[in-house]
Amino acid sequence: MIVTNTIAEIRETVFNLKKDGKTVGFVPTMGALHSGHLSLMRTMKNHADAVVTSVFVNPTQFGPSEDFDAYPRQIESDLEKCRNEGVAAVFLPSKEEMYAEKQLISFQLLGLGDHLCGASRPGHFHGVIQVVNKLFNIVQPNFAIFGQKDIQQFYVLKRMATEFNHGIEILMGDTMRESDGLAMSSRNAYLNEEERKIAPKLYENLQDLANKIRNGTDDFAALSASNRDDLRLAGFTIDYLTLVEDEFLQPKNRHEKGEKAILAVAAYLGKTRLIDNIIIE
Ligand code: PAJ
Repeated sequence: MIVTNTIAEIRETVFNLKKDGKTVGFVPTMGALHSGHLSLMRTMKNHADAVVTSVFVNPTQFGPSEDFDAYPRQIESDLEKCRNEGVAAVFLPSKEEMYAEKQLISFQLLGLGDHLCGASRPGHFHGVIQVVNKLFNIVQPNFAIFGQKDIQQFYVLKRMATEFNHGIEILMGDTMRESDGLAMSSRNAYLNEEERKIAPKLYENLQDLANKIRNGTDDFAALSASNRDDLRLAGFTIDYLTLVEDEFLQPKNRHEKGEKAILAVAAYLGKTRLIDNIIIE
């Protein structure tokens, strides 16, 4: 497995893989790898001949009061996991490598970024687009995969690849969960013992609400009121619990049986922000 900190070397590595006739699938991460990340690598292995991963805790997607400093960094065990998954190359850039120049150009997100996580994390998707746009141009893969767990990120980046003609096919990876249903996340490590016991209630509650919605509703706000109460009683502080349209993610209050929609939640347990979602088909 090739491990490199430089743009030049990862470019050369991918160039050589492609020269050998291999397709390249890319799995961008911020490290602290768990089974969710590894499942993206496995799915990618079914699509591409060679898998390239990046590990970079991108400072520009964290708000000033967010957890950039506390974000778990465990590069040696991450590399071991990548090796076990048969990853061909890992790109581990420094902040200086990625942001060598003062950044004078910024992207404006129209429509997709002003609700759900975009509303409560101003600038977050701007930073995600900035870094993934760079990574796409550096790595130039044939495919890239992002998890359903961060569904707004998925749709924003899929849209970016389309609008900016990256020529990269974007795949969605299923959400991997702990045995009690809690969606795996590097941030779960912040939960104390008490909070960890409560945390699975988020997905339980989401499933319960999704089942109610599947039959159709004229009034999601009313239908979800008792679920909100239950979450609060369990100890969550709700950021949002929203039903949105597929792809463009506009909030909606009515749902026809059989329509595709996404039920998305973000809630705090203590200081830890958890997100999850269910796609209603
Ligand atoms: P990170 O949080 O490390 O996540 C990397 C990828 O793993 C993302 O596509 C995310 O959706 C996916 N993922 C996270 N938890 C998952 C789970 N439980 N099951 C399946 N996939 C899961 O998302 C980022 O990093 C960054 O924003 C990044 C895209 C790398 C840009 O900096």
